[in-house]
Amino acid sequence: MTNIMIIVGSVRPGRVGLPIGRWVEKIARTDGRFEIDFVDLGELGLPLMDEPNHPRMQAYTHQHTTDWSVRVSAADGFILVTPEYNHSYSPALKNALDYLAVEWWRKPAGVVSYGGVSAGTRGVTALEPVLAMLGIVRAGAEVEISLLSSPRFVEGVFVPQNKEVAILGKLLDELAKLTEILQGRVTS
Ligand SMILES: Cc1cc2nc3c(=O)[nH]c(=O)nc-3n(C[C@H](O)[C@H](O)[C@H](O)COP(=O)(O)O)c2cc1C
Repeated sequence: MTNIMIIVGSVRPGRVGLPIGRWVEKIARTDGRFEIDFVDLGELGLPLMDEPNHPRMQAYTHQHTTDWSVRVSAADGFILVTPEYNHSYSPALKNALDYLAVEWWRKPAGVVSYGGVSAGTRGVTALEPVLAMLGIVRAGAEVEISLLSSPRFVEGVFVPQNKEVAILGKLLDELAKLTEILQGRVTS
């Protein structure tokens, strides 16, 4: 089984990132190809990056960093769920990414973005160079959720549109394939 970590990037009270992340988790678990580690950064509670050494050295001085390193190391790939904040992505996600280096390297990530008219796509554009720097290979399929269209949540549960379900399926296919390729299990 492929180990996929789903990371919910927003941490503020009342965030919609959590129900969107739970929807992603439900679909990914139902798929049957993946073991899922669901990471709610609000619950994880990493402080602002407080390690004295560059992450590439892996000379961690805090237990929270070691725990995060072990968890990310166990993942074969990621799904990043992020809002658009001021045409960028969530600072909590940036912080969680900055903590580590080699643990992310040569692993694929799919992005589920959400926001207003642009459905979070400007935030994803800001995220791209960071993923590239960390050696994370972005899956081609990207779920873009506009919060402005018809009811998106009913009693706190995300209500997906058909196209969002379809693209999430493609994203999972891409993650499965990219994981195999990047781990050298297939050659094309
Ligand atoms: C600080 C802040 C900045 C925002 N900036 C944008 C933005 O640039 N573009 C956009 O489409 N929505 C923006 N929004 C609206 C968010 O997309 C919307 O509030 C969303 O629910 C935020 O995700 P969250 O609930 O998971 O925190 C912003 C919201 C906040 C709180």
